[in-house]
Amino acid sequence: MQEAIILVGGKGTRLRPLTNHTPKPLLNVAGSSFIRHQIAKLMDAGVGHVVFATSYLANLFEEEFKDFTQDLEISYAVEEVPLGTGGAIRNAARLLHGPQDAPVLVLNGDILSGLDLRAIVRLHEARQADVTLHLTRVPDPRAFGLVPTDGADRVLSFLEKPKTAEEIVTDQVNAGCYVFRRSVLDAIPAGREVSVEQETFPGLVAGGRRVFGHTTDDYWRDLGTPLAFVHGSADLVTGRATSPLVGSASEALIHPTAVIDPTARVMGGSTIGPRATIGPDVVVNRSLIGADVTVAAGAQLHDSVVDHDSVIGSASLLRETVVGCHAHIGAENELPAQLRLSCGIRIPAQGVRVSGTSTACSAVH
Ligand code: GDD
Ligand code: MG
Repeated sequence: MQEAIILVGGKGTRLRPLTNHTPKPLLNVAGSSFIRHQIAKLMDAGVGHVVFATSYLANLFEEEFKDFTQDLEISYAVEEVPLGTGGAIRNAARLLHGPQDAPVLVLNGDILSGLDLRAIVRLHEARQADVTLHLTRVPDPRAFGLVPTDGADRVLSFLEKPKTAEEIVTDQVNAGCYVFRRSVLDAIPAGREVSVEQETFPGLVAGGRRVFGHTTDDYWRDLGTPLAFVHGSADLVTGRATSPLVGSASEALIHPTAVIDPTARVMGGSTIGPRATIGPDVVVNRSLIGADVTVAAGAQLHDSVVDHDSVIGSASLLRETVVGCHAHIGAENELPAQLRLSCGIRIPAQGVRVSGTSTACSAVH
């Protein structure tokens, strides 16, 4: 039976305030929590046992899957204090059932990818590798682990998050999905913080172990930043990225209980959550609207996320904005791009405008 470990213990700081009360893998993208898309993909690839390496808000994962009835064994390896990526993998490996030589899939919990999981496992076994890393090419590799390989795909070095221009020796980066020989997992030091990127991989390469890369040009995105998160969700809806949980490609995924005014335009792969209300002449473009959100007449949202129970006032404009839950943005606000609005915050009508305000001054001069 194929086994997998998913790393889901990170705090998701770049996605705050959405991650203040929900771990990143449990946020909704294209109608389901991201982890459910990942689980469906793993099951399609024949995985029969998944170990979640949890830490931050760990109990919410058990809550999410308590009624899961499909044919998959789920185990939880909870870290009281976060053990880092390598420590988390080592801690989760305790719960695996397979023999020492078995190939184990290890996945970061925030990667949306079109990688063929069966193919990478087959390749790993054919090469009798100790570890096989999925690699992808990105225009700007600075936020990732750089992984140059030789002509035979052997990994030459591993450099996590290069700091200087000289360190950027390749555009080929760690795509956050690995196949490990089980005995290699078990050799990671136990009971202390270990970074798989900074310690384990460089150590294995320096020790001459059989570490290979598998570079593909499949769809790939790390959903760890707000813009990547909304774009990943939109790509699932429009069919650029695929998930067993998303039906045929469309312009928008609208929950059956949402109410959309016929004059509103919901497009670009947007998702509208349960019981949301979208008013007349609203534009929702490539955005995620959570449950019980109201968007009033004439408001426009582009590349934005609005968490549950929030209100966006009429004629307000949001671009690349993250709105926490229970927030209230009054009418005619024009927010500067890339704002993060805290849960419960209130912005009065005409409170913020990029292009200047004509509202009369309320003070006496
Ligand atoms: N259990 C556990 N414990 N999980 C953790 C911990 C921990 O202490 N720290 C991080 N994680 C999980 C996160 O939840 C996430 O799923 C995964 O490990 C990777 O952490 P990120 O915070 O998303 O890392 P990153 O995106 O900056 O970089 C990683 O992914 C890149 C690909 O997207 C690295 O693996 C890079 O090398 C890689 O290029
Ligand atoms: Mg990440």
